[in-house]
Amino acid sequence: MIGIDYSNMMEEVIGINGISDLSIKNISSQIENAYNMIANREWKQLEFIDLPSQDTAEIKKIARYIRKSADNFLLLGIGGSALGPRAIIEALSPFHNLKKKPRVFIYDNVDPRTLKSIFTVIDLKKTFINVISKSGSTAETAASFLILWDKMKRALGKEAFRRFIITTDPEKGNLRKIANDEKILSLPVPPNVGGRYSVLSPVGLLTTEVIGINCNELLEGASSIKSICLKNDVYKNPALLFAVLLFLMDKEKNRHINVMVPYMDSLKFLSEWFCQLWAESLGKGNKGLTPYPSLGTTDQHSQLQLWMEGPQDKVVFFIKVNNFGTDIKIPAVFRNIEGYNYLPGHTLKELINSEQEATELALTKAGRPNFTINVPEINAYYLGQLFFFFEMATAFAGALLGVNPFDQPGVEEGKNLTYGMMGKKGFEDKKKEVYEYRKRKGKWKI
Ligand code: PA5
Repeated sequence: MIGIDYSNMMEEVIGINGISDLSIKNISSQIENAYNMIANREWKQLEFIDLPSQDTAEIKKIARYIRKSADNFLLLGIGGSALGPRAIIEALSPFHNLKKKPRVFIYDNVDPRTLKSIFTVIDLKKTFINVISKSGSTAETAASFLILWDKMKRALGKEAFRRFIITTDPEKGNLRKIANDEKILSLPVPPNVGGRYSVLSPVGLLTTEVIGINCNELLEGASSIKSICLKNDVYKNPALLFAVLLFLMDKEKNRHINVMVPYMDSLKFLSEWFCQLWAESLGKGNKGLTPYPSLGTTDQHSQLQLWMEGPQDKVVFFIKVNNFGTDIKIPAVFRNIEGYNYLPGHTLKELINSEQEATELALTKAGRPNFTINVPEINAYYLGQLFFFFEMATAFAGALLGVNPFDQPGVEEGKNLTYGMMGKKGFEDKKKEVYEYRKRKGKWKI
């Protein structure tokens, strides 16, 4: 089971920058309130809690068909629709495309250069496409879908219809209509599961199966931590504790930046996934906690100076993986070079773990709050635990902060202005607004 060591958050260990059991006790009624909101399903979008017990038969059937027939699997989607699948591939099948088929490509940002580059390395005739959009209305995904639909029809004629899988709301939206009208294979994103909480739905599970991993292992991991994340005791519930620690550091110590530092390359994209979840869920009503994705040891040579001696506004949390599943011994060469001869005989795992511990201790000595999430190893089971744990922690943090962790009202205006510029019906006033803005914009520039 994953666990949290939060010793280096405590006043007793790091001095005045730390918190105490008393500070936790002082907000016990707030914690109780937050707990009840989640346990009593205050928001209908808490339905993600039920995902571990879903039936995966249809997902597996579609994945078998793709694995049998495809050289390439192209995923179109953005935000929660792309970050979850990417985190899964990177964590569970690093360098996947160099080793296995089908190769997987994720096209999220609508950068034309990227799509052109994808076209240069895939043969559309041997490609399956998964279009993922909960709403079915996201401009980026809609645009790339239109492009791929047209291209596939040109390349494959009627057969093109059989190369698409649409992952969307089971009842509503443009993509659901297209899936029904054109009789395209489709998978449902449960109505009350939002994009950034959807990794354990068909959004993440189909990709998991396509890369050859049993998606039920992800769900078993999530299921194994579910009851623990629903315990009404902050000292026994790691998700609640995680939220409380970071909430208190913000409230009491003005530390609103949360730096996530996994010490494993393949968890880099788990950080990206977490950052979307934490930022989009909590940043509203002039409140929020700012996530900051990082990677150890790499960022010891890039960001650590700032964490050690920069503004006192951060909490660093490490993800430490106990078992890498492999190790490499450092050989006894260049023994006469004094600066190298301490390394032979040790292993890379020893070095990466020493660096993590050294960074943790250095921060602690400097009185900089930090804590560690310990993970036994990285496989689908523990990745499932991590996904579920972070989702629960985010829901608790939203309830503690007094914000709705399931909406994103702040992204609407940008979307509407884009619709105006792109000529969508009903957004003519937004188009006018953009023209006015452009006139004002050039006044101060060099
Ligand atoms: O978490 C969210 O709701 C968003 O980040 C969405 O995932 C993102 O905007 C894409 O939305 P959709 O899946 O509807 O295309």
